[in-house]
Amino acid sequence: MSGFVWLALWLEIQKGGPMTILELIRKRYSCRAYQERKIEQEKLDLIFEAARLAPSAKNAQDWRFVVVTDKGKKEAVAKSTNRPEVFEKAGAIIVACSNSGDVMRCGQAIGPIDVSIALEHIALQATELGLGTCWIGSFEPEIVRKAAGIPENVTIIELMAVGYAADKQKEASREAIGKIVCYEKWQF
Ligand SMILES: Cc1cc2nc3c(=O)[nH]c(=O)nc-3n(C[C@H](O)[C@H](O)[C@H](O)COP(=O)(O)O)c2cc1C
Repeated sequence: MSGFVWLALWLEIQKGGPMTILELIRKRYSCRAYQERKIEQEKLDLIFEAARLAPSAKNAQDWRFVVVTDKGKKEAVAKSTNRPEVFEKAGAIIVACSNSGDVMRCGQAIGPIDVSIALEHIALQATELGLGTCWIGSFEPEIVRKAAGIPENVTIIELMAVGYAADKQKEASREAIGKIVCYEKWQF
């Protein structure tokens, strides 16, 4: 083995090996302070590769993502959210849209479910790349529609801020497994 391969191996061992999926999930948190720093295109490409590979009902892949990075446009989009001064600083605000008005046999709309799965892929991939993310459901769709030029027939499902964090992860508050899971029949 070449010296380079040994070095790479040694570095990997020092780091404790690659993160497991659970470690990555534990690392993700809602980042609510961002550095005004551009996200490298290679990182955005990996983030959207993770979105592209997400599952979707009937494999329709009817999600569309508008990545807002321009300062003025970001400000316009952020203004419609509950934390304008925070989200306008993020390297990107992703406007996650759906082209689908379909409903599954179970009665649930396909659009929000498919887009949400892809968005969480985005959040986890961004976390692995050392970026912070925050889901944003508190926004005014018509303001975002205008700022990002989203056509009337397309549904804006959620926004997601992505960028270099300027805060630290706080401990997540979560219910115990026993409170949310039971086996075989409803026992809550
Ligand atoms: C669908 C959805 C919408 C959300 N909307 C907002 C939002 O508008 N603004 C915000 O600051 N956080 C928002 N959040 C973040 C949640 O508040 C956060 O995920 C939750 O408090 C758990 O904290 P954690 O993500 O740090 O683990 C949203 C999360 C989800 C999943």
